[in-house]
Amino acid sequence: MLLLLLISSAFLLPWAGAGRIIGGQEVVPHSRPYMAFLKIKFVNQSGIQTSRCGGFLIRPDAVISAAHCVAEKRRVNITVTLGAHNISVREQSQQRIPAARWVIHPKYSSDGHINDILLLKLKTKAKINKNVKQIDFSGSNEYVRAGTKCRVAGWGRTAVKGHVSDVLMEVELKVQNEEPCERLFLNYLRHSMMCVGDKNGKKSTYSSWD
Ligand SMILES: *[C@@H]1O[C@H](CO)[C@@H](O)[C@H](O)[C@H]1NC(C)=O
Ligand SMILES: *[C@@H]1O[C@H](CO)[C@@H](O)[C@H](O)[C@H]1NC(C)=O
Repeated sequence: MLLLLLISSAFLLPWAGAGRIIGGQEVVPHSRPYMAFLKIKFVNQSGIQTSRCGGFLIRPDAVISAAHCVAEKRRVNITVTLGAHNISVREQSQQRIPAARWVIHPKYSSDGHINDILLLKLKTKAKINKNVKQIDFSGSNEYVRAGTKCRVAGWGRTAVKGHVSDVLMEVELKVQNEEPCERLFLNYLRHSMMCVGDKNGKKSTYSSWD
């Protein structure tokens, strides 16, 4: 459940950026063995570009990430790294697997991050071991009550204008009542989003386009 936050949440602090973890800390290496790092190559007017996104392994050959990571990009090529802690290093634990194909949620809308979900099929199956595991994804339609603490992990920026982290970071956030998000975000949808945040404004996460 905690990982759904990565891809479909509205936040009390609407900071724009790419997969940010603000006010968090470095995770214990490999304590989130389902986390996937996506390196995305695409082409725009200025040539070949690369961007990055987080995701999570749901099957040895399938990863869920966010639609905005590939939407409206041309000639996209995605490599998924599993079992990583520091993505700047070729760690023994890492498995790099190209994505064979992917599908954007048919009702995705970049306007308000509606159904911001991407499903990727890997070219080969990951080897499941202590550093690479799929997440238990059983409870469908699970409802997470306000007040529940959850953790969001990623390799994104660590400050609003900070540098991107090369090690996996995580931040603990509390699930809020729906009302503040409904007030702040016109496109907030109760059935598919979670309102999370820190009222003191010190911790946040945000996953959006660059
Ligand atoms: C995608 O990138 C990988 C790694 O750089 C490369 O080996 C592969 O040929 C590329 N695939 C396509 C279809 O361009
Ligand atoms: C990750 O690895 C790079 C390359 O070895 C190193 O420079 C960097 O300090 C490492 N990051 C952390 C937070 O340990």
